[in-house]
Amino acid sequence: MKKFFLFSFVIGVLAACGGNETKSKTEEAKPADITKNPDYQKGLELAAKSDCFTCHQVEDKLTGPSYRDVANKYAAMPDTIVAHLAGKIITGGSGVWGQIIMTPHPALSEADAEAIVRYILLLKK
Ligand code: HEC
Repeated sequence: MKKFFLFSFVIGVLAACGGNETKSKTEEAKPADITKNPDYQKGLELAAKSDCFTCHQVEDKLTGPSYRDVANKYAAMPDTIVAHLAGKIITGGSGVWGQIIMTPHPALSEADAEAIVRYILLLKK
């Protein structure tokens, strides 16, 4: 009889763990969805080729604001914000997030800078 209880207990624990695993997998699947967006893939590739990630991370503030914060600030704005932010990336500047200066990126084309901005804006939460 004791063995039976032990057996059911073990099964119970296994079932509970299995259940949790399924749950966390579905939770992880949600943010993963935007990674299938072509705008996300193209922008991320261009950002990774440039020096953006030396000063920016998606979640945490480094030298520059986190991309999540940038997205939360601008994602609801009209589409003209894309060209504005692309211009800011190319010419660099400061004053919006603090006194630290973003270095200019004259080697980036406007189209590529806009593609990176579209990727950043998708990170809104
Ligand atoms: C030397 C560090 C540094 C690098 C490299 C850098 N940034 Fe920045 N970035 C900053 C700082 C600092 C700010 C905040 C500027 C401000 O307060 O106006 C910023 C701001 C921004 C903003 C928000 C601009 C605004 O007006 O709100 C975007 C978008 C951005 N960066 C994208 C990029 C991209 C894309 C790259 C790569 C091509 C890049 N950054 C490379 C430091 C950097």
